[in-house]
Amino acid sequence: MEHIATATTEKDMPKKVFVKTYGCQMNVYDSQRMTDALVADGYVATETIEDADLVLLNTCHIREKAAEKVYSELGRIRDMKLERQSAGGELVIGVTGCVAQAEGNEILRRAPAVDLVVGPQTYHRLPDVLKKVRTGKKVVETEYAIEDKFERLPRLRRTDVAKRGVTAFLTVQEGCDKFCTFCVVPYTRGSEVSRSVAQIVAEAERLADAGVREVTLLGQNVNAWHGEGPDGSEWGLGQLLFRLAEIPGLARLRYTTSHPRDMDDALIAAHRDLDALMPYLHLPVQSGSDRILKAMNRRHTAADYLRLIEKIRHAREDIALSGDFIVGFPGETKADFEATMQIVRDVSYASAFSFKYSPRPGTPGATMDGHVDEQVKNERLQQVQALLNEQQQAFTTSMIGRTLSTLIEKPGRQPGQKVGRSPWLQPVIVDEKVTEIGDIIDVRITKTGFNSLFAEPV
Ligand code: SAH
Ligand code: SF4
Ligand code: F3S
Repeated sequence: MEHIATATTEKDMPKKVFVKTYGCQMNVYDSQRMTDALVADGYVATETIEDADLVLLNTCHIREKAAEKVYSELGRIRDMKLERQSAGGELVIGVTGCVAQAEGNEILRRAPAVDLVVGPQTYHRLPDVLKKVRTGKKVVETEYAIEDKFERLPRLRRTDVAKRGVTAFLTVQEGCDKFCTFCVVPYTRGSEVSRSVAQIVAEAERLADAGVREVTLLGQNVNAWHGEGPDGSEWGLGQLLFRLAEIPGLARLRYTTSHPRDMDDALIAAHRDLDALMPYLHLPVQSGSDRILKAMNRRHTAADYLRLIEKIRHAREDIALSGDFIVGFPGETKADFEATMQIVRDVSYASAFSFKYSPRPGTPGATMDGHVDEQVKNERLQQVQALLNEQQQAFTTSMIGRTLSTLIEKPGRQPGQKVGRSPWLQPVIVDEKVTEIGDIIDVRITKTGFNSLFAEPV
């Protein structure tokens, strides 16, 4: 009898899962899909780690700091688990994402409290993995690239999407074949896989049906996406964007992250001809020095990049550019760094991310000669960031007095406010009475914060 009673109680109390996300937007998307898969399996999602029966850390391996953060967090969660166990309870700890893929069994060695390690290619197996874990086993699943991994996950449900608001990510491509010599992504995410047009359109339609107005297409190399169009012709991202723009309700499209080598004419034409495609492009160049670009295996020169930017700006005059930069790559001299400063001046970015080079195990860069002194890296990072901040400030300030189309996204941080997004991804703060969430309205910018804009209706 007692046995049955326990079973009933357990059944009445669904297990709660807490997912903590590190790294890029693709991890944000993956965390949602994992949560959906577990919810379909009877779990309830919680925002409070203390309530959780299952904690998943969806991790990032891109720089050493990102990876090390995971281990300090695992230390804290282990303490929670020990407390829980001494009170007769339980806590299952899982590591997913790029650290899981890169380190596999090593994670169990360094953090024995971990119960499961699942790489990005095998999330659809999570419910089964958890069943195994419940029998007392530790599970490591880091098998590579399953072509139809997304289709093995449960379909997005209207209710799950609606809770998440009017903007959404949609992964169209995963993995990378570029092998930049500093980067772990080709190893953690495997080789490039594109989802089919039909699958992408179906998911975009479900998002639109649930009230989503803006979709950001994701891929480690999103503009390398390719597929077969309905007429059997070869499509690139440009053609796909035209197709997605036809979906009723979807008013805005974005994509990230692009490689300069894959910016083809059809994609540039989409920027020229598609109103729905927002005039904002994240196009990392990493360095302005041809020598360093070569050592990074980027396979283009600084001049190639500048020519490309000119072509894109010619097609879409008001496009804002964003980029990524690495300072202190092995062999980077003062002159190489100066070339990076120069390309930043030449392009003028609306926003950008810059990093100190971090040697990653297994990448060619890690064993190259000429590692740059930490102090020099710090100085260069400060210099490039000062310039990029100046450019971002100038871009933000140039918005004052302009009328911008704004998608109202959610309540603002302060009472009485709503916050939306400009075409250039800037947060736009308006009075909450102005309009409803999900509306796209014209507003006039009256003043600015560091990156945010304050606006009134026109
Ligand atoms: N797939 C994207 C981004 C990859 S990671 C692309 O190809 O652009 C995001 C950024 O992190 C990179 O653009 C790069 O600037 C930075 N990054 C990657 N590896 C790094 C490393 N080992 N050290 C420092 N920064 C790195
Ligand atoms: Fe990494 Fe280069 Fe691939 Fe981007 S293109 S994910 S930086 S290897
Ligand atoms: Fe990090 Fe993996 Fe994304 S290494 S940046 S989470 S692809």
